[in-house]
Amino acid sequence: MKGKNFLTLFDYSSDEIQKLIDRSIELKVKMKNEEQYKPLDGKSMAMIFQKRSTRTRVSTETGITYLGGHALFLGSDDIQLGKNESLKDTAIVLSRFNSIILARVFAHSDVLTLGTEGTVPVINALSDKYHPLQTLADFMAIKERFGKLEGITLAWVGDGNNVLHSIMAAGPKVGMNIRIATPKAYRPLDDVIEMSRKEAEKNGTELFITSDPLEAVKGANVIVTDTWISMGQDDEKEQRLKEFKGYQVTMEMGKHASDDWVFMHCLPRKPYEVDDEVFYSDRSIVFDEAENRMYTVMAVALELLGK
Ligand code: CP
Ligand code: NVA
Repeated sequence: MKGKNFLTLFDYSSDEIQKLIDRSIELKVKMKNEEQYKPLDGKSMAMIFQKRSTRTRVSTETGITYLGGHALFLGSDDIQLGKNESLKDTAIVLSRFNSIILARVFAHSDVLTLGTEGTVPVINALSDKYHPLQTLADFMAIKERFGKLEGITLAWVGDGNNVLHSIMAAGPKVGMNIRIATPKAYRPLDDVIEMSRKEAEKNGTELFITSDPLEAVKGANVIVTDTWISMGQDDEKEQRLKEFKGYQVTMEMGKHASDDWVFMHCLPRKPYEVDDEVFYSDRSIVFDEAENRMYTVMAVALELLGK
């Protein structure tokens, strides 16, 4: 993986994804044991954030510091990007100072441009199309809970968004069945469905898409949702709240899933997406996912830097 960009999990093989998850689990053990481990001594990461963030920003800064490196937070008001300077020039300049770039952007094409124009590895920390770091953390949490990924059935109930697209990229590659319910107007993007379907056929897994949440959660070991209104979609709030009626995850919904079902959400969460009874229950592994964000970004940075 040395020298590669990390923009979408469609670019990563099953072995690479499994390796990143296993490395993240190893890093978690090291950090819990307070072991000194500084392979990024003298390395720096430029973190471009065009959107808000709690988990991604804090987990990355903390994780890179633990590894002996230095992470610079560059918010949209801090650098010339978007106001006074092109993405291309920004990518070239940042590559001269930093060992690696991480970016949270609006348009996915922006992170692709950074990847093409930058001369150091670029990590996608969320674009409007994908959120690959989140999927690694989620799959790590599933592996910790169930001891495996292969054969797990994951049901998505909600918006066909960036977080779902990344699950669709990686799920079939690790042997997971994916069952999706979205309102008709909020399905995943066609090209993502097509690529995910190809992977599912190749790996002998299920990819099922419906508008009926109860149908989607049938037999699911994991029920996942996310915000109904992603960053940048605030103007659509009223319409979306109407269209997603019936999509709230509840214990009642869970009765249609497998007995051992768990709940996941990448956070931040609103109670209309999942009620408190589920969100704060023993079935909920949302805070494990959040914690795992740190180990997964550390593993990705180390692998891309060949450390
Ligand atoms: N899940 C996630 O990416 O959270 P933040 O927006 O807080 O980084
Ligand atoms: N789908 C959400 C994820 C936030 C972490 C968004 O893009 O805003």
